[in-house]
Amino acid sequence: MNGSELLKAVIGYARTGFRDGCGHLHLQETVNFCSLFSDLSSPHLRVACAGIASLQGVIFPEERLDIQNAHPKRRREFIAGRRMARQLSQSLGFPDYSLRRSAQRTPLWRHGATGSISHSATICAAAVARKAAIPALGIDIEALGRVRPELWGSIFTESEQEFLYALSTIEACLAATVMFSAKESFYKLQYSMTGNWVGFHDVEVKLIDESRCRIAPVSSQADVWHQPDIHVERVGSDHVATLMHMK
Ligand SMILES: CC(C)(COP(=O)(O)OP(=O)(O)OC[C@H]1O[C@@H](n2cnc3c(N)ncnc32)[C@H](O)[C@@H]1OP(=O)(O)O)[C@@H](O)C(=O)NCCC(=O)NCCS
Repeated sequence: MNGSELLKAVIGYARTGFRDGCGHLHLQETVNFCSLFSDLSSPHLRVACAGIASLQGVIFPEERLDIQNAHPKRRREFIAGRRMARQLSQSLGFPDYSLRRSAQRTPLWRHGATGSISHSATICAAAVARKAAIPALGIDIEALGRVRPELWGSIFTESEQEFLYALSTIEACLAATVMFSAKESFYKLQYSMTGNWVGFHDVEVKLIDESRCRIAPVSSQADVWHQPDIHVERVGSDHVATLMHMK
């Protein structure tokens, strides 16, 4: 059974946390995920999404420390991301581990792994890879319609806005969501390689077709991590996910 089939085959929800002889907590659990970007079909990559509500449950005590003062909504999305990312890691053969957060808010992936996490109000998406094959990646999920025209000036360059204003309302709604999401995926990927801040006006997104777009720097702030295509996938009727990965 390959990874994608494994994810699809996991029906329902089972949890059996136990402590080993050293008192370490082990969480053996499975959650019903929907795999994303399965056409990329890399044995080194797992990408999935699921409802934040369906992902609630136990996380490691060390992980709880990272959200102890957070608002309940933030706790729920954090828990969802941890549970999903850890399960994807395990499906790649990594032992379970507590996925702590750095001072810069980035997840601290275990040795040999890398990944990325994103949440909308209702859905969590995560991607995890073997770092030797895929050194860095960025994922983002967005609800369609969230990137309203009044936000375009702060997110898009003049030429990107010209492109959007030439589209019909429905086309522009989809394109703006994809382009925003692509910038977020790019940012996460490049940050994990460089630790640099990149602003929304430092890069431009070009849509290639329904399932791919490309990002290019328009200022020296954006480093060289713009070359790989960004993959686009509709998630249900109301979300879009983007994924960028280095090979
Ligand atoms: C980091 C950022 C992209 C995250 O966006 P967000 O609105 O919180 O939305 P998402 O839910 O998609 O992503 C959150 C997750 O990203 C991850 N993350 C946070 N900071 C990150 C960083 N600097 N690099 C990579 N991943 C990061 C975390 O896993 C976080 O989830 P968690 O705290 O539950 O683990 C955004 O807040 C940000 O700081 N942007 C900077 C400027 C920018 O976006 N530029 C784009 C132009 S290129």
